[in-house]
Amino acid sequence: MIVAIDGPAGAGKSTVAKAVAKRLGYRYMDTGAMYRALAWKVMRHGADPGDEAALGSILRNTAVDLGADAGAPSVMLDGVDVSGAIRTAEVGQMASKVSGLGVVRKRMAELQRAMGRGGAVVAEGRDMGTVVFPEAEVKVYLDASPETRARRRFRELAAKEPGLTLEETLADVVRRDRRDKGRAVAPLRRADDAVFIDSTSLPVEAVVERVLQEVKKKSNENGRIVS
Ligand code: DC
Repeated sequence: MIVAIDGPAGAGKSTVAKAVAKRLGYRYMDTGAMYRALAWKVMRHGADPGDEAALGSILRNTAVDLGADAGAPSVMLDGVDVSGAIRTAEVGQMASKVSGLGVVRKRMAELQRAMGRGGAVVAEGRDMGTVVFPEAEVKVYLDASPETRARRRFRELAAKEPGLTLEETLADVVRRDRRDKGRAVAPLRRADDAVFIDSTSLPVEAVVERVLQEVKKKSNENGRIVS
């Protein structure tokens, strides 16, 4: 089974997807980390994120891979673990920019589909249920108010980025939402058959249980047993 979880920044996708993957013994796929890894390389090369030809050339010489362990997720860029380096607001913004290019999305989707072959994955991102895995048995669209999402992001980033304020984080989240929802290729949107969950005032455990319920429901429909 494929469990696809989409939604905007700070909605709680990673925490929920990781917990669901662990409970099911599935592979966890953080597709945002793949875009972040590429963005990190683009920044280091000083390339223009709007230059499709330059990005195409970087992509051809780039290997991005995700570790399979839901307990310790990692992303490898050209054989180097960049899991820590990509978790900054700046890399997030750059990831949002490079992910608007068709050439980038096409390559990432290919890699993601290859990783998802065989199923037993929980994949989170912006276009899992709409574009990459439209056949996913379980689709979830996870959202929360912008203020709540900004507070969560701020808590994650504050220790790493001491100068950062909550106001800046909120502006960052809003800017990223606008770009991710407004792009021409694979914009962030809820798939018609996705379950909508608002995590604004729900604890993580409740969201995890809600997703697991969906998995059980689908498994029963398909005659499979999930513990
Ligand atoms: O989930 P995240 O914050 O790590 O994602 C970083 C950026 O990558 C996000 O702003 C948009 C992009 N992204 C995407 O376009 N498609 C995905 N499936 C995942 C992330």
